[in-house]
Amino acid sequence: SQNIYILGIESSCDDTAASVMHNGRILSNVVANQKIHEEYGGVVPELASRAHQQNIVPVVAQALKKANITKDQLHAIAFTRGPGLMGSLLVGTSFAKSLAYGLHIPLIDVNHMQGHILAHFIDEEGFNKPPFPFLAMTISGGHTQIVRVDNYFDMTVIGETIDDAVGEAFDKSGKILGLGYPAGPEIDKRAKLGNPKAFKFTKPRVDGLNFSFSGLKTAILYFIQNETKANPNFIEENLNDICASIQYTIIGILIDKLKLAVKQTGIKHIAIGGGVSANSGIRQALKDGEQKFGWTTYVPKFEFTTDNAAMIAIVGYLKYLEGDFAEQNVAASARLKI
Ligand code: KG4
Ligand code: ZN
Repeated sequence: SQNIYILGIESSCDDTAASVMHNGRILSNVVANQKIHEEYGGVVPELASRAHQQNIVPVVAQALKKANITKDQLHAIAFTRGPGLMGSLLVGTSFAKSLAYGLHIPLIDVNHMQGHILAHFIDEEGFNKPPFPFLAMTISGGHTQIVRVDNYFDMTVIGETIDDAVGEAFDKSGKILGLGYPAGPEIDKRAKLGNPKAFKFTKPRVDGLNFSFSGLKTAILYFIQNETKANPNFIEENLNDICASIQYTIIGILIDKLKLAVKQTGIKHIAIGGGVSANSGIRQALKDGEQKFGWTTYVPKFEFTTDNAAMIAIVGYLKYLEGDFAEQNVAASARLKI
């Protein structure tokens, strides 16, 4: 039987990550978060690439150490080719190429969005893998997509955001409210203590399965400006209710589109990925949908939903089995499509 070790490397945004996979199981999953962006209230691309440059060697070394193997035992190097920030992608891409070249082993290019989706195929006790075909909804600070997945490498994007990602809707709303970055987790926490129907924000009207979140952010901004004119303490006095109402609106948008996607495709298996899938309200709404709409939902372990290299390693492993390798002249691609 086979005994395959794959190193996955992820550097598309602000997390430098490396993971070692043995067959379908994860032996290590190391992520270096970049705290520097908190001061700026968002990811600063130039700073992100510099931090990757500093982090990449120690992160890879730690992933190998935690997996208790040496680099000579690796069968292939998988790396994120795109989409993402070009300066960030170049660090991981160049490093992966050099390592594969030096070790005389195959190089495997991975699409980050496929990684988020195929993270569901990491062997993990207590987690069921979705059966084909299924719908994948990837929701994070950088992405909002609904993808029809017919097989590992047979995927079709059937809906995506035309402007901001859903995580940005959380983070930008949080900024208006004076919360820290990223604001998603705090909005989630406060939403539990507030009334979701206290304030009403109209949902954007976008045709079909596409999303739009920039209008919501503007609506919240005007609402807050208006209310604080009348009462300077409006935010402090109503923060939990405001958070609950914003979260309620966002969840409504996501669930409406999912319902439509299920109706259009007839597919009722729904797999969630991306950092926003940590949101407790979204998790509850998905669970409720199982009763109400007959869905089955799949949510992986949290460490596999945010940006990580385990998801890159699993794609690498699946491609390795097919002999689908990259050439040494492969280029990072900021706008790589599924
Ligand atoms: O996947 P991720 O770690 O990084 C990328 O953006 O790719 O996702 C980060 C996003 C941020 O926008 C953050 O505010 C949001 O996920 N987030 C949440 C929660 N936890 C993280 N949003 C809502 N509720 C949460 N509990
Ligand atoms: Zn991501």
